[in-house]
Amino acid sequence: MSIKGKNILLLGSGGRESALARKLSQSELCGNLFIAPGNGGTGRYGTNVALSPLDFDALAAFVDENNIDLVVAGNEDPLVAGIYDYFATRGVPVLGPSKEGARLEGSKDFAKQFMMRHGIPTARYSSFTAGTAEEGCRFLESLKPPYVLKADGLAAGKGVLIIDNLDEAKEALRSMLSGMFGKSSATVVIEEFLSGIECSVFVLTDGNGGYRILPEAKDYKRIGEGDTGLNTGGMGAVSPVAFADAEFMRKVEERIIRPTVDGLRADNILYRGFIFFGLINVGGDPMVIEYNVRMGDPETEVVMPRVTGDLVQAALAAASGDLADVPMGVDPRAATTVMMVSGGYPGSYPKGFKITGLSSEPDDCIYFHAGTALTPEGDVVTSGGRVIAATALAPTVSEALAKSYAAVDAISFEGKYFRRDIGRDLLSLEK
Ligand code: AMP
Ligand code: GLY
Repeated sequence: MSIKGKNILLLGSGGRESALARKLSQSELCGNLFIAPGNGGTGRYGTNVALSPLDFDALAAFVDENNIDLVVAGNEDPLVAGIYDYFATRGVPVLGPSKEGARLEGSKDFAKQFMMRHGIPTARYSSFTAGTAEEGCRFLESLKPPYVLKADGLAAGKGVLIIDNLDEAKEALRSMLSGMFGKSSATVVIEEFLSGIECSVFVLTDGNGGYRILPEAKDYKRIGEGDTGLNTGGMGAVSPVAFADAEFMRKVEERIIRPTVDGLRADNILYRGFIFFGLINVGGDPMVIEYNVRMGDPETEVVMPRVTGDLVQAALAAASGDLADVPMGVDPRAATTVMMVSGGYPGSYPKGFKITGLSSEPDDCIYFHAGTALTPEGDVVTSGGRVIAATALAPTVSEALAKSYAAVDAISFEGKYFRRDIGRDLLSLEK
């Protein structure tokens, strides 16, 4: 490791953090890379540290002892809890938004108000609390089915209900307002249903109007093939997304990215980090479904392998407020990832099964660990719902998918499940 390198502390333990850790570790500017808490595979890129991303005081002690130059928040929880502001008072840069900026993800009502204020296209909506439940029912009556009800606060990806029947939607509204998702649903956003294909667009911004657009991706959220069954954290992802052509991306930049970056500045919201735009293509026009204040998972497992340029340089520049001189490009190859999950996920599932086949990665493939752990004997075992993401790079999406699936076949663990149709909906669109 280089003596002059920058010491980085990356927070999180999923496939996204594996992909970030790999990319950070490839930089010549990277000194010591620590991942807290990391997983059974991140030790390949740096040193795992048994600390919780939410234990700020313990992280601060670690940052002091290890001369950390930059903290990178992988997931939203520490950001929403205010890690940026906490370390700002200590003079340590954190890649990510301030607590106020993290409300773009932490409060759907805040995000909707932000979009309205800055003219960013999104579904028509209104917000309600227990005191205005009856108005909420009237608002539902004014909409066409299906009805979209969203808990205002973080709800581990489960806080959005889409319901066909009006009476059931009213019932769901009342249940949400009386605590279905705890405090998160004390306010409920009801919005118009938008019909179209979704995609995820990512930006790294420096808080001063500078930004870089990263490769777009599409993820597959449902457990079952053909997008059926329960929602998961994400079963696979593909980049590029065929319908996100130059014309679509021009609209995304003009109508969504720039107004967001400028809106944050106009509102005096400090935001130096990744912005994740969850978009839907409504007849060729992009609209915002949601903001997240971090990278996506499993999107990062296809985005980071396509990013060319130095992520440590870019992260340090963004965190210090000036991306102007930072080159970031895109590998023209396609990337796909297929997530192998524990049998039973997203319901309950057993853990601790030995995983075999990881020792050799097929050409142009990467196994990103997610829910894995290392035993004292050195075995890699399952320790979460989403276990390993098999990423592959190839000239086209269909070739990358063939490689990802071959890489999936080389891995074994009891109960292994994966979707066989990742990316299939995009293949007919591929040029
Ligand atoms: P969110 O947590 O806001 O991303 O919502 C979860 C999922 O619900 C999204 O990825 C969409 O598939 C769906 N969804 C959310 N809002 C809408 C909407 N207004 N119209 C159609 N689908 C939606
Ligand atoms: N893959 C969607 C997310 O990270 O929220």
